[in-house]
Amino acid sequence: MWTYYNPVNVTAGCGSLKELPVRLGQRRAILIAFPEAPGLGLVDRIRELLGDRLVAVETDVRPNPDVEWLAPMYERLWRDHADVDCVIALGGGSVIDCAKVMLTRPAGGGFGELLAMIEGAPAQPASRGQHRQLLAIPTTAGTGSEVTPWATVWDQARGRKLSLQLPWTWPEAAIVDADLMLSLPHAATLASGLDALSHALESLWNVHRNPVSASLAVSAARSIIATLPQLLEQPHRPDLRERLATAALQAGLAFSNTRTALAHSLSYDITLKHGTPHGIACSFSLPRIMELAAGRDPALDGLLLSVFEVARIDDAVASLSAFLQDLGVSVDPLAYGIPEADWNDRIAAALAGARGRNFIAVA
Ligand SMILES: [Fe+2]
Repeated sequence: MWTYYNPVNVTAGCGSLKELPVRLGQRRAILIAFPEAPGLGLVDRIRELLGDRLVAVETDVRPNPDVEWLAPMYERLWRDHADVDCVIALGGGSVIDCAKVMLTRPAGGGFGELLAMIEGAPAQPASRGQHRQLLAIPTTAGTGSEVTPWATVWDQARGRKLSLQLPWTWPEAAIVDADLMLSLPHAATLASGLDALSHALESLWNVHRNPVSASLAVSAARSIIATLPQLLEQPHRPDLRERLATAALQAGLAFSNTRTALAHSLSYDITLKHGTPHGIACSFSLPRIMELAAGRDPALDGLLLSVFEVARIDDAVASLSAFLQDLGVSVDPLAYGIPEADWNDRIAAALAGARGRNFIAVA
C-alpha cells in the first residue's frame, strides 16, 4: 500500500506571475523577497499587480535563515501586521523557508514559543494560535520548497540545523514562472540545479519511494542532467530556464512525499562549518551514495540505470561523477573538509540523522 499527497495549487509557465492577483483574491499580503528583488524591478511589479493589497515588504533575507535575524523580522511582522492573512515568498529556498517561519503565531505570540515548536514541543492547537497562508514564487530552479511543508532553520550560534513543519507550512499555491529565473547568476543556477538533482535522486534511494514519486524523480533527474550544462552556457534562454524549472518542480513534488536522505543528512554539517552552499554540499557526495545504494533493490537499480541510460550501476556512478566534475564541482570529500579516513564515520553519523534514516540501505 502507498499514498501520495500534495495539496499545493501549482501554476507554471513563463509569464505566470500575472496569476498572482487571482491566487491572492481579496486578501492582503506581506511580501518577503530576496535582497536584489527591488533593484530588478520585481517589488514594483508585485505592487502593480496587487495595489493596496500589498501592505509590507521585507527584503533583508540572507542565505540559510538563522534564528538570530529571523526573530526580529518575526516580531516586527506580527506586531505591525497581525491582521494580514497571507505571506508571498518571492525568491529561492532561503526566502521561502524564511516566509514559512513568519506564518505561525502561537498562543503566547512570541518567537521563543515558535522556536520551542520547531525544537519539538507539541504544536499548539490551531484554534489557540493564529496562522497565515503562504503563496510561494520561486526565482531559482532547485529548492522545491514551494511544494513541500518544510523549512530549514539554522541556529549558527548553537551549531544546529532545525526543521519546521506544520499543517499550514504547505504553501497554499506556487507560481513557477521561469521568466523570473532569467537573471539568476551562474553560481546560484548551478547550486540550485544540483540541489534539485539531489532531491530527485534522494527520493529514489529512499524507504518512502512510491510509483508516483519515482516517476517524477526519474523524469526530473533526466531533464536536469540534459539541461543544466546547456543552461549554464546559455543562461538567458527562456526555454532552458523553463525546462529546468519544470524539472526542479518535479523533483520537489517527488521528495515532498519521501523527504530527502543520506546526501542531505551529510550536507548540513558541511554548510554549518564551512558555509558551503546547500546545493553543492548536498550533491558532491551523490556518486558515492549511489554506490552505497546500488544492489540493495533491483527496482531502484533499474530506475537509476534509466536515469543515466547505462546498463551497469558502475557506469551510472561514473557518469554522475563526470557530470559534476564537468560543472566544476569536486567529488572529493576533502574539498569539503572531510579527509578520506573520516568518510565512513561521517556516513555512519549521517545515516543516524533524521534524513539519513530515509536512505534505502538501512531499511
Ligand atoms: Fe535540498
